[in-house]
Amino acid sequence: MQEVLKRLEEKRESSRLGGGLKRIEAQHQKGKLTARERIEVLLDPGSFEEWDMFVEHRCFDFEMEENRISGDGVITGYGTINGRTVFVFSQDFTVFGGSLSESHAEKISKIMDKAVQVGAPIIGINDSGGARIQEGVASLAGYATVFQRNVLASGVVPQISLIMGPCAGGAVYSPAMTDFICMVRDSSYMFVTGPEVVKTVTHENVSAEDLGGATTHTAKSGVADLAYDNDIEALLQMRRLFDFFPLSNREKPPFKSNHDPIERIEMSLDTLIPKNPATPYNMKELILKVVDGRDFFEIQPDFAPNIIVGFARMDGRTVGIVANQPLVLAGCLDIDSSRKAARFVRFCDCFHIPIITFVDVPGFLPGTSQELGGIIKHGAKLLFAYAEATVPKVTLITRKAYGGAYDVMSSKHLRGDVNFAWPTAEIAVMGPKGAVEILFKKDITNTGKIESYTEEYRQKFANPLVAASRGYIDDVIMPHTTRARICRSLRMLENKQLENPWKKHDNIPL
Ligand code: HXC
Repeated sequence: MQEVLKRLEEKRESSRLGGGLKRIEAQHQKGKLTARERIEVLLDPGSFEEWDMFVEHRCFDFEMEENRISGDGVITGYGTINGRTVFVFSQDFTVFGGSLSESHAEKISKIMDKAVQVGAPIIGINDSGGARIQEGVASLAGYATVFQRNVLASGVVPQISLIMGPCAGGAVYSPAMTDFICMVRDSSYMFVTGPEVVKTVTHENVSAEDLGGATTHTAKSGVADLAYDNDIEALLQMRRLFDFFPLSNREKPPFKSNHDPIERIEMSLDTLIPKNPATPYNMKELILKVVDGRDFFEIQPDFAPNIIVGFARMDGRTVGIVANQPLVLAGCLDIDSSRKAARFVRFCDCFHIPIITFVDVPGFLPGTSQELGGIIKHGAKLLFAYAEATVPKVTLITRKAYGGAYDVMSSKHLRGDVNFAWPTAEIAVMGPKGAVEILFKKDITNTGKIESYTEEYRQKFANPLVAASRGYIDDVIMPHTTRARICRSLRMLENKQLENPWKKHDNIPL
């Protein structure tokens, strides 16, 4: 018996070593943790239950028969983050460059299936040379089985992808179908075709970093949501993000005991809006001052910063925040901000996370680049997402809510549950200056009386009372009471029930 136990332990030990000490050292030299070290940082100490550490590939070509490593380049299993269950796979770059074989894909598929059955999130740590070249179509088939599971799990359990090394070719499509992608600066990249292929086909010279590094994807393409300087920081931040999510769509968002009084008054908000309507202010100040303990986890902070999205808690429960940012492009909606916010709203709606919307929007961004880029379709994504969402929706208009953008930003007409405005709100078809220039064009040319007309328009229409008199705004509130009013609304809405008509699925303007 002792001999059997010893042999098993030896086999485990060899599996734990992956591709061997030399390759582990090379991984460390690149500033990267190994696949196992990453799991250790991500999960609660001692909570990891590993599966399939004895799985090997089934390839006989290219001398692969003699070259077998237990575990086959991916570590899979489940554990806990702050006591809550999560399934994990972590690709081991020391084993055939973390490349995906048929067996490797089966291991990932197994934990994904179980995660959906038990209702627990999936975190995938990607560090791979892509399809295992020696296996040919079998590895392509393996990828497709993972893709299929990404789709079926979408909206059932939260899925997070960490990119901690290469992620190239069709392999990028598994992360792309998950809810959030987090990259590590200077050691991870994602692209469909690498710099060499780009050079051959389009004659462009581009580095891997510029083509698909963390900065490219978090600031320019919008493919990734978050970027951190090293593996440890990224893994610790994913623990923080995970805490905001329910484990599946069968649960409500988690409650975290809250010591921040819901009735807390924030007098400084009474002076947040500048006197001049053209002067910007920082919407993040409002967010931080109303959420529990100033704890806000921003998603895509570097992409389309004219809209802010992220998670916070109010009265102890997770909320999704969507807010126009007057500091950037005056907070207008454009292609990128519409796509960014639409995807976020849909995530919240999948997982019963109430949406708080802070509105200060002068409209959609005009211009040929926007029109030719399809702002009509992209803007419609955000409109569609808000209109479809059945979770509690609380909206506050702080200043401008002009034109179509007023409708889009969780207005009463899109089933906003509670719609507040500050006394400084201006709800109108357009800003006073633009409006009088159209309405009194002839008069202005003859008399030059633009200021008096503008002031008259502002008094009449650019305030919250016209909308409030129609019931489109439920109450005009004092800014310092904002936290209390939102928290009370959320309590009232806790058991909200609203269902959309049955359909196979909708046809969001993709
Ligand atoms: C088998 C692979 C591999 C692969 C790397 N290795 N990629 N083995 N299949 N796809 C092995 C290498 O042979 C090497 O083995 C070890 O992993 C480390 O690789 P290096 O090249 O030494 O590392 P590095 O210099 O860091 O370069 C990493 C890399 C490069 C950039 C990922 O290896 C590379 O370009 N690999 C090929 C990438 C690729 O074209 N993949 C297919 C993409 S298409 P030894 O034994 O020397 O340590 C794809 C289709 C998916 O994935 C389709 C889904 C629908």
